[in-house]
Amino acid sequence: MTAASEALSSAGPRHIAIVMDGNGRWASKRMLPRTAGHHQGVEALRRVVTACVSRQVKVLTVFAFSSENWKRPADEVSGLMTLLAMVLAKEVPKLHKEGVRLQFVGAREYLSERVQIALLDAESHTRSNTALLLNVCFNYGGRWDIAQAAAKLAAAREPITEESLAQTLSTAHCGDPDLIIRTGGEMRLSNFLLWQAAYSELVFSDALWPDFDAQLLDDAIGAYLARERRFGLTSDQVSDAAERPS
Ligand code: FPP
Repeated sequence: MTAASEALSSAGPRHIAIVMDGNGRWASKRMLPRTAGHHQGVEALRRVVTACVSRQVKVLTVFAFSSENWKRPADEVSGLMTLLAMVLAKEVPKLHKEGVRLQFVGAREYLSERVQIALLDAESHTRSNTALLLNVCFNYGGRWDIAQAAAKLAAAREPITEESLAQTLSTAHCGDPDLIIRTGGEMRLSNFLLWQAAYSELVFSDALWPDFDAQLLDDAIGAYLARERRFGLTSDQVSDAAERPS
């Protein structure tokens, strides 16, 4: 393990979120269909889940299918749906053994009944696991999330405040990410966790997602550890708070 991963138990990110970008380019470079890139992306996700467990990261949230991804070619969309069902069948027992709890985040009512049942089964099978919470954002969009939370509050005639909205977002069960990583060289959020990213540290990697591994995760964590998180305070205020006994 590197110095970055050793430092994790004290100062490392509790919650990491990842935009797993670059599967298509990884495949194109090898003259393979884009779905081959997504299949390889699953392998990268497996590596990163294991690395997060051993580094005592408590929550990993990944962007697997965005609200906008429906606009992709039909064969790629159906390939991703099939991949999700396949991954669940193959990986859930292994994830369960590793103590990983799976939670799906997004508008699942638009998914096929078969997929919806598979999601519910995976969630209930792994519900009591505590090593790592793996949130898979599927048919997710940050704008959808804020709108659905506001709509729920309005329907219940509840006041819409920062606190009530945060408690009604689809990630209310796990809080905001400390670190958001985006692979694939692009530097944008692409409608991922828009509200929740308010104070997240952003780290961008040029690696294409299928090439991402534990070393690159440690590099991102190292960059995170080198940052000063101020949450709107001054640097002096942050230092004073850190020196005060808790
Ligand atoms: C973005 O790369 C990636 C996706 C839209 C899909 C992400 C899915 C996985 C990593 C597989 C895990 C999935 C499941 C079902 C758990 P891109 O296709 O936009 O790549 P490009 O920018 O190179 O075209």
